[in-house]
Amino acid sequence: MTEPQWHDLGPAAELAAKPLQQLTVGRTRIALSHFAGTFAAISGACNHVGGPLGEGSLEGEYVVCPWHHWKYHRATGLGEPGYEHESVPRFETRIDDGHLWINLEPVTKRQRITHPAHPLARAIERAPGGLRVAGISTTAMDPAYPRVSTSELLLQASLDHAAAAGAEIRLLKLHELTFRHCEGYYSKSAHACTWPCSITQMDPTDQLDQVYEALVHWADVLVVATPIRWGAASSLYFKMAERLNCVQNQTTIRNRVLIKNKVAAFIVTGGQDNVQGVVGQLLTFFGELGFMFPQFPFIAHSRGWSAEDMENNVREVQQSGELKEGAEQLMGRSLGLARDLLAAQPSAETLARGGRKAHRMS
Ligand code: FES
Repeated sequence: MTEPQWHDLGPAAELAAKPLQQLTVGRTRIALSHFAGTFAAISGACNHVGGPLGEGSLEGEYVVCPWHHWKYHRATGLGEPGYEHESVPRFETRIDDGHLWINLEPVTKRQRITHPAHPLARAIERAPGGLRVAGISTTAMDPAYPRVSTSELLLQASLDHAAAAGAEIRLLKLHELTFRHCEGYYSKSAHACTWPCSITQMDPTDQLDQVYEALVHWADVLVVATPIRWGAASSLYFKMAERLNCVQNQTTIRNRVLIKNKVAAFIVTGGQDNVQGVVGQLLTFFGELGFMFPQFPFIAHSRGWSAEDMENNVREVQQSGELKEGAEQLMGRSLGLARDLLAAQPSAETLARGGRKAHRMS
């Protein structure tokens, strides 16, 4: 039996002022709670991915993890009803001469339930087979009454060209997927932003898993098509991009690059201008994810700031052989680079993390 290790946490009256707090003694993290006149202490490290339980909240007698909301009884350390086999260590406390003492030798051990891994969490290994191309249309529209999207027209032309060249193709239209906004797990802590995405793991109805599957596991080439909206990419593009933070964040927190040997290219159209601003944003973001770009990595079309006759814009793109040819050539360059990358298998050095996101995380 191990000797108790009593430690003075300080004046009980001061510690009682907060219903829940995170304390660290040496290497031991503690979630100390004070509820209905009594103290209780459990481990301050959540079983899930280590969230600081003492920085969460109290829901009755349960401590709620601030990261993804797992719950543990504040005194027993057991998970909420139905999840009692999931538990964190609990500690004894006592009050002596007005001071709160804790025995750092836990009374119970941590117990974890083995949760089945999400399918996206599998090892990233390119399945054998020919080149695979994913197209993502970010145009917003009412799926019940679809309209012509010029960026989607050109995306389809590029995908048709890929299919004719023997590649497998997959088209994802964001407006057909139901998915939640990024809810800011990364903003709580870089380690709270998980791969697979926390939302994807918690919400089986969220359909962004299709985008993750295509980007991380399936495709060799990704073509993103967007309209220009007030000088920026579409709102659905940004909604997707924020959710892709979990892909980039793996590089930040684990030095784990999920995107390897993959090519990205872009199609940008807008009745008005700012092609360069939109493409610059796309190149920056997909570059940070780890994609590589073909020579001349985008095609674009804009009739300029004063062109408000949108019907003519649609007609012009529909009738333009030049734009269709441009979309096909963009695909040709992308397939060419993807083929070269697969043949060359770039070295670990080429694929290492780097750039301004390279600060080491503890
Ligand atoms: S719920 Fe605690 S770290 Fe995820």
